[in-house]
Formats: sequence, C-alpha cells, structure tokens
Amino acid sequence: MTLTPTTAPVRVGFLGAGLIATYHSKSLRRSGAAVSRAGVYDPHAERAAAFAAASGHTVYPSEDAVIADCDAVYICTWTNEHARLLAKAVAAGRHVFCEKPLAFTTAEALQMAQAAQAAGVTHQVGLVLRRSPAYLWAKHLIDEPAAGRVMTVVFRDDQFIPIQGHYASTWRADRSLVGAGTLLEHSIHDVDMLRYLVGDVRRLSAHTENFHGHDGIEDVATALLRFADGATGTLTSVWHDNLARPSLRRVEVFCERRHIVIEGDDWFGPVTWTDADGTAGSLADDALAAAVAPMRDGSDNPDGEFIRAIVEGRAATPDLFTAVEAHRIVDAIYASAAADGRALDVPAADLTTVT
Ligand SMILES: NC(=O)c1ccc[n+]([C@@H]2O[C@H](COP(=O)([O-])OP(=O)(O)OC[C@H]3O[C@@H](n4cnc5c(N)ncnc54)[C@H](O)[C@@H]3O)[C@@H](O)[C@H]2O)c1
Repeated sequence: MTLTPTTAPVRVGFLGAGLIATYHSKSLRRSGAAVSRAGVYDPHAERAAAFAAASGHTVYPSEDAVIADCDAVYICTWTNEHARLLAKAVAAGRHVFCEKPLAFTTAEALQMAQAAQAAGVTHQVGLVLRRSPAYLWAKHLIDEPAAGRVMTVVFRDDQFIPIQGHYASTWRADRSLVGAGTLLEHSIHDVDMLRYLVGDVRRLSAHTENFHGHDGIEDVATALLRFADGATGTLTSVWHDNLARPSLRRVEVFCERRHIVIEGDDWFGPVTWTDADGTAGSLADDALAAAVAPMRDGSDNPDGEFIRAIVEGRAATPDLFTAVEAHRIVDAIYASAAADGRALDVPAADLTTVT
C-alpha cells in the first residue's frame, strides 16, 4: 500500500507521560527530526505536567484531544490500553508509534497491525534493539560465510523486578494492566532478537515460575527452542530482587566456525568473537557504532526513523507485524509452560496483508 507523505514538521502527540514517553521525547530531540510538539495526555496529571514542561508539549484534557491535533501519536501507556488507543488513532488517520508488547495476545496484536495497515498509516513498534549497534554487528558476524551455520544460542536476560528502583511502577504487578510477567513485558525484546539473529522458532518447550507471588506475573521463564533452520537455543528470563544488577543481557552464539558474545551494554556492547583459525576481535562504544554505520538505513535512532518514514510516506521498521511475529512465540512459550513444558509447534500467524 502506498502511503501519503506528510509535510515536515510532523506534529507529534503523546498518550502516556511516564518513563518510556520521556525516553522517546528525548530521543526525538537527539535525532534532530523535524517535529513540532503538540498535545500530551496522561490521567496522572502531575506526570503530564512534568512531561510537558520538559519537552515543550502542551497538556491536553483527553486522549481524543491529543489524537485530534497531531499527525503522529506515541502510545506509551501501560499495555492494556495499547489496543484501544491504537484503534482510535488509526481510525483518525494518525501515524502510530506503539510501545511493546502491543497487547496481551497474538490475536489482538495482529488485529492492531491489520488495522494500522488498512488505515494506510506509518506504524512502528518499540522493539528498539532492532537498531542497536551491538545486535547489528552480531548479525553481521553471524551472516558472514566464514562463520558457518548457527548451531546454538544461549540468551540470558535478567533484571530486578521493575516495580521498584528507577521504574517506580506498580502496574507491572497488576495482571489486568500488564498482562503477564518477565517474558511478555520484558523478554519480548529477546524473542525478537532471537528471530533477528538466528531466524524463526519452529518448536519449543518451556517452564515459567512465580517466586514473588504476584497473581499472573511470572518472574522466571525458561524456554528450549528449535529454530526453523535446525539451530537450537535457550532463553532464560528472570526478574529477581538484586537491585545491584541493572537490566543485563548476555547472548552467546555458537556458529560452526565462530563464537560470538554480546554483553555489557545493550547498545554499545562489547561484542566479542573468536574464529576457528584463532583470530579474535572485540568492538564496543564508538568503534562499534562506526563499524555498523554503513549497515544502517539512516541512523540508530528509532524515533528519527519513525519521523523520516512519515515524511517520506513509507513504512517504518520495525513495524507492528514484526511485533506480531514475536508475540506468536511468546504465546507458544506460555502455552508450553501451562502444559508443564510439553513440546509444541509454534503456529504461524495469519499475516494476511490488506491491500
Ligand atoms: N521499548 C522499551 O524498551 C520499553 C521500556 C520500558 C517500557 N516499555 C513499555 O512502555 C509502556 C509504558 O511503560 P513505562 O515504563 O513508560 O510506564 P510508566 O508507568 O512510567 O508510564 C505509563 C503511563 O501511562 C499512563 N496511562 C495509563 N493509561 C493511560 C491512557 N489511557 N492515556 C494516557 N496515559 C495513560 C499512566 O498514568 C502512566 O503515567 C509499557 O507498555 C511498557 O512495556 C517499553
């Protein structure tokens, strides 16, 4: 479907004025994208006021007022509101940036993606690791013929349960607002990166556990994965109480002739690798960013990409359909865990496109 270009500056509105809204607002400023700051609405009035004061947005009295007066809207509320707000925004013809997870289930996420597509708007999801230099470089190392095929991957993601510390949120312990625990709320990023690095997951078996006892909020999820191309892998996701550890990932990829590790910072590595011929390398920080610069379609800034896509009248990446693919695997992990780890095939999503 051809999209209609929007004249810059793009008028941007925000629904939700919390942690991630603030991140996107600052990131928009850093990107240098041509935007004008329109409305922000958050039922938490103090948050909306603080966000407006810091960003140059204006506090509006309702969701509808924000949607009415913008070209593009960021949906940065807790998860149970995403689908309802997205439906309103695309019905009004607004371009949408929606935070992950899109929804509680694949079926609802798919409806959202199809509604955005049918409305002919640019849509993007907050699966921001798609623009991380560390993951881009790891993907490059995996794809080089010298590496051989991916044999197996070990993906570990741990953070303190984010109802404390700098998250300062309580809604992440309320299943009616967040949907589930560490896997859906946090590790949907990891599932997306496993698909990006290795490929689609065909079959899996999984367990979840709930140590904290918040109803429906698992704080451990472990999955054994079989990828479509024959590789295997494990995903371990945990929400603990160790505030001395910030959010940390460690990803280890064994190819036939190359071993790759992503650790440290999600964005700036280091990424280290060792080859069968004894050569080894490590890249981090500015050197890592410089190495991936030629591989990027523009920049490492997800918000700049969103605005550019709107102005150019084209699709953005990652779009909502990318999120639907990750939701499929998340749902299958929960289904296996509910069946005490029974192995099951990951069903294909019906990504029938609307033209
Ligand atoms: N992409 C990422 O890396 C990333 C990181 C953190 C959070 N998130 C996602 O972003 C979303 C928000 O998380 P957060 O950490 O910013 O939470 P937060 O608690 O800091 O902010 C959420 C805000 O949404 C507001 N809100 C609720 N319903 C609303 C509505 N109908 N209209 C307008 N505002 C409404 C709340 O009052 C709250 O201020 C969640 O879906 C979360 O999973 C993504």
